[in-house]
Amino acid sequence: MTNPCKIYEDGVEYTLGVLTGNKVIYDFPKIMIYLEAKGKLLFGDHFRIYKKDQRIIRELCNYFIKDKESCEKLGIDPGKGLLISGPVGCGKTSLMKLMKYIVPHQRPYSVVASRCIVFSFNHLGYKTIEDFGDSQFFCFDDIGVEPIGRHYGRDCNVMGEILLSRYELFLETKIKTHATTNLNAEELEKRFGIRVRSRMRQLFNLIAFDKQCVDKRK
Ligand SMILES: Nc1ncnc2c1ncn2[C@@H]1O[C@H](COP(=O)(O)OP(=O)(O)OP(=O)(O)O)[C@@H](O)[C@H]1O
Ligand SMILES: [Mg+2]
Repeated sequence: MTNPCKIYEDGVEYTLGVLTGNKVIYDFPKIMIYLEAKGKLLFGDHFRIYKKDQRIIRELCNYFIKDKESCEKLGIDPGKGLLISGPVGCGKTSLMKLMKYIVPHQRPYSVVASRCIVFSFNHLGYKTIEDFGDSQFFCFDDIGVEPIGRHYGRDCNVMGEILLSRYELFLETKIKTHATTNLNAEELEKRFGIRVRSRMRQLFNLIAFDKQCVDKRK
């Protein structure tokens, strides 16, 4: 196996920690340096790691590198997925697109916009719900504010249905699902109903940005 804590980007080597035996001891300051560099490559030169976001990024790092002790302290279950909540523009989508790069040895997830899934449903109907309920690894972006689906005159709460399927999949196979949202627990329940909300608690660890977090959109 190649060393998972050595990553090359544009000919530059980044070292995220040291490999001892088959265990990596990660070094947070080094992970932050890599995340800032990779963020600039992915999103542009304006990208930086804000001091105020370091707490949440550290939590995400502990989750992705599966640091059992730290996860336990933080109340994070590495066996569940992540639900990142926070105000508009705080950087949820960018972070979920970025974090997978610190663990290149793990199976990557695709970040898919919930509203695009609804548009697909409007064309293809229930096939879309089947497609996203299968064993691929997804991060559903911006759940809860997508429009209601409509196929041949029938309304459907598409993401609600998909979350129910993902829950069944999780019980059967332990395959995780991630998501981001602007909504709080109460609003999610209003949007998806109590059955979905209850299952979401089992499917996700909740990682919340501060309500005061600034909009990073210029
Ligand atoms: N760490 C960062 N440094 C600089 N710019 C950032 C950072 N994070 C996000 N941005 C920029 O801020 C904007 C919003 O980011 P992003 O889409 O990730 O936020 P979001 O929380 O997903 O927003 P929404 O709730 O609207 O979906 C983007 O233009 C992105 O490039
Ligand atoms: Mg977003």
